[in-house]
Amino acid sequence: MNFCSDNAYGAAPEMLEALAAANDGAAASYGEDALTQRLQAEMSRIFDREVAAFPVITGTAANALALATTVPPHGAVICQRGSHIVSDECGAPEFFTHGAKLVTVEGRDGKLVPEAIDDALSQFIKGCVHHPQPAAVSVAQASELGLCYAPREIHAIASLAKRHEMKLHMDGARLANAIAHLGCTPAEATWRAGVDVLSFGATKNGALGAEAVVFFDPEQVRDFEFRRKKSGHLLSKMRFVSAQLVCALEENRWLAWAARANAFAGRLARGLAEIGSIEIVHPVQASMIFAFMPDAMVARLRAQGASFYEWAPSDGRRTLVRLVTSFMTPESDIERLIAIARS
Ligand SMILES: Cc1ncc(COP(=O)(O)O)c(C=O)c1O
Repeated sequence: MNFCSDNAYGAAPEMLEALAAANDGAAASYGEDALTQRLQAEMSRIFDREVAAFPVITGTAANALALATTVPPHGAVICQRGSHIVSDECGAPEFFTHGAKLVTVEGRDGKLVPEAIDDALSQFIKGCVHHPQPAAVSVAQASELGLCYAPREIHAIASLAKRHEMKLHMDGARLANAIAHLGCTPAEATWRAGVDVLSFGATKNGALGAEAVVFFDPEQVRDFEFRRKKSGHLLSKMRFVSAQLVCALEENRWLAWAARANAFAGRLARGLAEIGSIEIVHPVQASMIFAFMPDAMVARLRAQGASFYEWAPSDGRRTLVRLVTSFMTPESDIERLIAIARS
């Protein structure tokens, strides 16, 4: 019963078939191949406009390279406290931007809000050489707490960012889960709401290891390709990464997989919420559940083979845990976890 992360499970069978097909014969290297071209077409199709998409193999690389292309070394990136770019990327965004400052603000319900961004901006005087210059806002969709920004919320943040001549970056490691929850189009969730550059995630949702940086305005690509090469993410056998992304996008599989993961999280959350001693902390919208559980229940679940993260230390009585579902989570594991918790 593995509920640690959506990257704990493997790849969709369709992915493995797509890779086997991509393995047939020789192809041009370094992204000059037909599959990488097809990826451009697929990305432009799902986003309903011509986009420039660049495969990489980790979300950290996607975020760091997207920000590095968008933000100068003396720039500042406003983001949520506890966001992946701040807490889980070992300083890669700072490293690849050559020292831009990540300015963290408190969100509401795990999401950034314009008032908090405005507040952070008031610390910095534009043009003052002593101050980092705000250059981008970064939001995670879905957020690290599994909440989804409605397009109008993104639009409000983007409008504020534009007023301050800042770009809007979206960490879309779980974009598919957010879109599946929101029921909007990929365009509405991103560029139509004002997103400039997107880290598109597929690894948590069907792929073995495939992400992409997507620029909605080709002019913003600037020196991205040199940065990707210098970071070691220009793969010579790019076709295998592109094959995974194409497989996810074709027939809109990425949204079907994400909807399945979300439905599993919904089922698990409903089952746990019926148990009086469990408190579900945030609305469950994507594939993540945060819940306070009695310590004895945590111990029993572990003893019976369940794994998940403890999100905060126990207060001596109960512990905040995080449970994440994947499109591949066995439904029987969900029912078993609920039954053990109930017992
Ligand atoms: C919000 C968010 N962004 C990005 C990533 C991608 O990180 P990685 O570099 O491990 O692929 C993750 C993975 O946990 C994530 O949760």
